[in-house]
Amino acid sequence: MTSPPIKLLFVCLGNICRSPTAEGVMCHIVAEADLSDQFELDSAGTGSWHLGDAPDRRSTAAAAARGIVLEGQARGVDGADFEHYDLILAMDRYNFRDLQAIAPTDETESKVKMLREFDPMSTPDDYDVPDPYYGGPDGFNHVIDLVEAACRGLLEDLLAGKAP
Ligand code: 4NP
Repeated sequence: MTSPPIKLLFVCLGNICRSPTAEGVMCHIVAEADLSDQFELDSAGTGSWHLGDAPDRRSTAAAAARGIVLEGQARGVDGADFEHYDLILAMDRYNFRDLQAIAPTDETESKVKMLREFDPMSTPDDYDVPDPYYGGPDGFNHVIDLVEAACRGLLEDLLAGKAP
């Protein structure tokens, strides 16, 4: 396969819980499908409180229980990301709004989507991946359930040529 990789950036607020989880889940799913070399995956945050931090231990533990590895250090999303990535996938409506506001051009703004748009079981009034940061362990498991369903739908759409 010589076509360029599909470049996906997952974005939440802190880049320590939801977006590193989505990146790790997507990495796991494409590896299972033997498609790792066709994807470039990363995650970033719209907020700056946790820059340089590793993924939250509670996210890492919830993912590890399912055989999913979370890696990386938190970073902020920037203008160059809008040029580089094919799709910029927001975890909730606030991330979506913030991403639309910082997109440098209309064309790059059109790369911003809600991740859960790609979950065939979701509805437009229910696209948020809820922020688990101030809650208990159930919230972190729920994040994995939601992002896994959406990432599987996203991969199907990408392979079918329905996205980006
Ligand atoms: P994330 O979760 O956006 O899923 O990484 C959060 C992490 C940290 C904070 C908020 C949300 N915070 O306020 O520090």
